[in-house]
Amino acid sequence: TTSPVLSDGTKVSDLIYPATREVQMRVLSDREIYELEMEKIFGKIWVLLGHESEIPNSGDFIVRDMGSDSVIAARGKEGEVFVSLNVCPHRGMRISTADCGNTQIHKCIYHGWAFRPNGDFIGSPVERECMHGKMMAKEELGLKKARVTLYGGLIFATWNVDGPSFDEFLGDAKWYYDMLFCRSDKGMEVLGPPQRFIVNANWKTAGEQSAADGFHTLTLHRWLGEVGNYAKKGEGEGEGTDLSPEMIGVEISSPHGHALRCIDLARKIKRLTGLDPATLSVEEKLNALPPAGMTRDMVEQLARNLSEDQLKVLTSMPPQVGGMFPNILFGFVYIPQPDGSVVGSMTLHAYVPQGPDKLEFVNWVFAEKDAPPELREKMLKQTIQLFGTSGMVEQDDSDTWPHMTQSAKGAMGRKITLKYQACFETGAPEGWPGPGIVNEGFTKDDTQWHWWQYWHELMTASDEK
Ligand code: FES
Ligand code: FE
Repeated sequence: TTSPVLSDGTKVSDLIYPATREVQMRVLSDREIYELEMEKIFGKIWVLLGHESEIPNSGDFIVRDMGSDSVIAARGKEGEVFVSLNVCPHRGMRISTADCGNTQIHKCIYHGWAFRPNGDFIGSPVERECMHGKMMAKEELGLKKARVTLYGGLIFATWNVDGPSFDEFLGDAKWYYDMLFCRSDKGMEVLGPPQRFIVNANWKTAGEQSAADGFHTLTLHRWLGEVGNYAKKGEGEGEGTDLSPEMIGVEISSPHGHALRCIDLARKIKRLTGLDPATLSVEEKLNALPPAGMTRDMVEQLARNLSEDQLKVLTSMPPQVGGMFPNILFGFVYIPQPDGSVVGSMTLHAYVPQGPDKLEFVNWVFAEKDAPPELREKMLKQTIQLFGTSGMVEQDDSDTWPHMTQSAKGAMGRKITLKYQACFETGAPEGWPGPGIVNEGFTKDDTQWHWWQYWHELMTASDEK
């Protein structure tokens, strides 16, 4: 690889130190590095834009950011989803100035060039007088189109039209994501439009944390055990003030920076049934504690959509939190309630870069399409309370990200390093049926280090890739 060189002479390849697992702090605030990321990461890989349930009807559209570019994701006549650059090919005006809406004709407000939801050029005013089309055919005047994939209804797009497929991008991690996004017959849908707010932080502070940093929960979110959902409420109730048991499980890393924390359900099942989970069948476990976001009536769908091995993992050590490279966090969590029951939460965040020290936090709340209204209501409330704009958990997280970004601007601060040395490569537990890089035990740094390795690989890749 020929590494890009920054204007002060630093090679991008020298920004991480593999032998000691360190990353130069300046990557969290440097504008040149940020611009390179927009080209080499967000300009190349699959980027999450939303969910198809946000645009159910023909002509529906949402406007989102794909790296540093604004794009329109729109539903076509046949139900397909298209993603086009929100830039008029005439003189560069933004085509849609709205956040969302419905139209079969996207008309530029400047000179009136018009486009279909699929990005094709329709025409312009005074066409006959050759206001355009003298030199180029109509087919060449459409909006720049991205390659699109729907996965579990999630809309992903990339500018790399000949690059790896979405399945190749997910790799072994797909086996685990399928348990969350592709487990039910009808799939999931959003509960209202996503919440969006700006945080004055570099997108990577939130992005790398999403690569399964469980460790910070013990300190930053300790209130969860002291007074929150995990606090002990009385004899036999609650989970106890110590959050460490929640940190034990299996972590999945990926050479593409994806990460999942599978957390042991044994304590919850034991508390709900009074029985040793090891003695229970998959059916009995599903009946005791359906997957987060499902009811007992819905669990029979799982066997139609997942393999036996996936069901085994889903009922004992399900993926609950983690990320998808580069800027997505998911939470499919089982949240203890004061009455001893458990309410699931299904949420997805994207940390959309808005500059070297600014990100837009986008929060989608999901439910299964056929979840009963009472459950949807409970899930929405629970998720907003914990993970939304005003969510108590993310109040903690979004407080640290700006500080780290600020630290990386200091003349000295930018020279020190971030450390990912708690990698122990403990390996998979005996009989673990899933693929990928698997490490069991207490949460550690392996997944986040793999996140940085992929960041580094993309940042130093030659442009033909
Ligand atoms: Fe859009 Fe001229 S810039 S029609
Ligand atoms: Fe957190």
